[in-house]
Amino acid sequence: MRRAYFVTGTDTGVGKTFITAGLAGHYATQGHSVGVMKPIETGHEGPGWPEDALKLHHAAQNDDEQDMVVPYIFQPPVSPWAATKMSGRVIDFSAIIQKATDIMARHQITFIEGAGGLAVPIDEILTMADIPRQLQIPLIIVSRSGLGTINHTVLTVEYAKSRGVDVAGIVMNQHSQELMKRDPSCWHNPAIIEKMTNVPIIGVVPTVSALREGPELWTSVGEKIRLG
Ligand SMILES: Nc1ncnc2c1ncn2[C@@H]1O[C@H](COP(=O)(O)OP(=O)(O)O)[C@@H](O)[C@H]1O
Ligand SMILES: [Mg+2]
Repeated sequence: MRRAYFVTGTDTGVGKTFITAGLAGHYATQGHSVGVMKPIETGHEGPGWPEDALKLHHAAQNDDEQDMVVPYIFQPPVSPWAATKMSGRVIDFSAIIQKATDIMARHQITFIEGAGGLAVPIDEILTMADIPRQLQIPLIIVSRSGLGTINHTVLTVEYAKSRGVDVAGIVMNQHSQELMKRDPSCWHNPAIIEKMTNVPIIGVVPTVSALREGPELWTSVGEKIRLG
């Protein structure tokens, strides 16, 4: 059966690309045909592949073209809506949906990384949540492990519900011995978040600093996440 997930985060910089590449690389290394997409990437100077899309494409090990994987690239490091205002370009939402549908049809499993968090605007009507809503695919929410994560994670789940998007699970990222020593909230956050949201924590991923990008790193991340 063909499967697809939209990976969002409770904030920018929480590890969406890291986790998405880990999942994509893990499945690809196991021999699955894996699709990836970063529909809109901002903050990219110059020509060529932008950073997130390149990491995802590298991990997926497929030959999908850049224009399919990352249809919209903007230079300013701002939200997509702000980027359209600054550049005078428009985002054709139906083109994003068409390309995502094509990628999902071509691969056994597809991971789509949003820009920023779920409420980030694409234009004056649409937000990131409208991509999984329109595609009818569930979310994976990447959240931090430490203090402050309960509020961000619960708000993200509530926003998903309000936009009619299912949440497959939450991945808590950058869980470290060091963090657990100095932040006691880490011990309780997963159980509290599960109770408050009724969404399963499908992975707790540690800080991985020793490994370079490649199959070993992807597997070490991917095998810590349980996708139903
Ligand atoms: N579990 C982790 N172990 C080590 N580094 C991580 C981990 N998660 C994220 N990072 C690093 O943190 C930074 C931000 O992560 P990134 O995936 O780019 O966030 P996002 O896509 O949500 O903006 C990157 O340099 C990434 O490599
Ligand atoms: Mg990213």
